[in-house]
Amino acid sequence: MKKKIAVLPGDGIGPEVTTQAVKALEAVADRFKHHFDYVYAHVGAIAIDLNNDPLPENTLNACTASDAVLFGAIGHPKYDNDPTAKIRPEQGLLKLRKSLGLYANVRPVTTYKSLAHLSPLKNDRIEGVDMVILRELTGDIYFGEKGRSEDRNRAYDMAVYERYEIERIAEMAFDYARKRRKKVTLVDKANVLETSRLWREVVGEMAKNHPDIELDYLFVDNAAMQLIQYPAQFDVMLTSNMFGDILSDEASVIAGSMGLLPSASYGAKTALFEPIHGSYPQAAGLDIANPAAAILSAAMLLEYFNLNEEAHAVRRAVQYLLEKGIGTPDLKPAITCGCAQFGDLIYCLIAEPEYFKFRAEKMIAQVSTII
Ligand code: IPM
Ligand code: MN
Repeated sequence: MKKKIAVLPGDGIGPEVTTQAVKALEAVADRFKHHFDYVYAHVGAIAIDLNNDPLPENTLNACTASDAVLFGAIGHPKYDNDPTAKIRPEQGLLKLRKSLGLYANVRPVTTYKSLAHLSPLKNDRIEGVDMVILRELTGDIYFGEKGRSEDRNRAYDMAVYERYEIERIAEMAFDYARKRRKKVTLVDKANVLETSRLWREVVGEMAKNHPDIELDYLFVDNAAMQLIQYPAQFDVMLTSNMFGDILSDEASVIAGSMGLLPSASYGAKTALFEPIHGSYPQAAGLDIANPAAAILSAAMLLEYFNLNEEAHAVRRAVQYLLEKGIGTPDLKPAITCGCAQFGDLIYCLIAEPEYFKFRAEKMIAQVSTII
């Protein structure tokens, strides 16, 4: 198979983790005889520095002309602490989502037995946690009208949803649930918000066409609590843009490290794959970032190309290392490796399955003697 992939490394640790994800893709290409062409482009703070635009036109063109987008991370502290900044790195990601019509953000939350001790939750709480959060990505308070009064003492952000925006992602949620434990939980604030009442109305109506799927409703404040108390109860969590942003970060730490969770955004055009963590500027260039989430995002990208065996090989390689107790410092592993070494090990595990264990163990031994 021949595919073109736009690679947008972005800011902070984005370039380092994306390099490891590309290594994983190259290992897949070698072993399974595919050919991936990569088109690199700037986004975020680096693009502002170079072009005064967080999403330059050539970056957007590279994305629309590709079969998929591999995204690193964006953000820089110099903008976080300046609320008056007119141009911000985040605008690049938001514009990209809107331009590519990426209305569905899929964030699977899986836990690894070998990392259970890293979870802030007690082990009995995280047993059996396997959920996917479907976050609507191009509507809500993020994209509604916003502004300030003339005297600048009043500000507003409008939350808006149209029926069709809810329908298309809800349909996806029912489909996901059908392949899983057949349960959808709609998270909203229908006791207060009109947009949430529209969500309930639309999703409730649609549920009649999906009698095999159980539909639950939870208010977002309750959901935030339940995620910590009984996370294993969730199968598919369906929610709006703002609530999904918050709840998916909350859910991400259940696994033990934010550096483990991938995400995919689907829509009308080219799909985009990115780790859910941010640009972590303090770690940039130190070779300590965890590339697992970026590598697992590459696995989701392969699945999008219907390369399921290939995606499985990537996931198996990540799982193998984690089970062997090898990983980046955030995992407090038995054997600590750098971001690039983790990528090298993954490459070897994917590209040379005949030496799968032999090579990995040799490399692990090498890494452990280096460190
Ligand atoms: C995310 C991020 C973005 C969001 C920011 C960077 C605009 O937090 O992907 O979750 O809020 O959607
Ligand atoms: Mn977020």
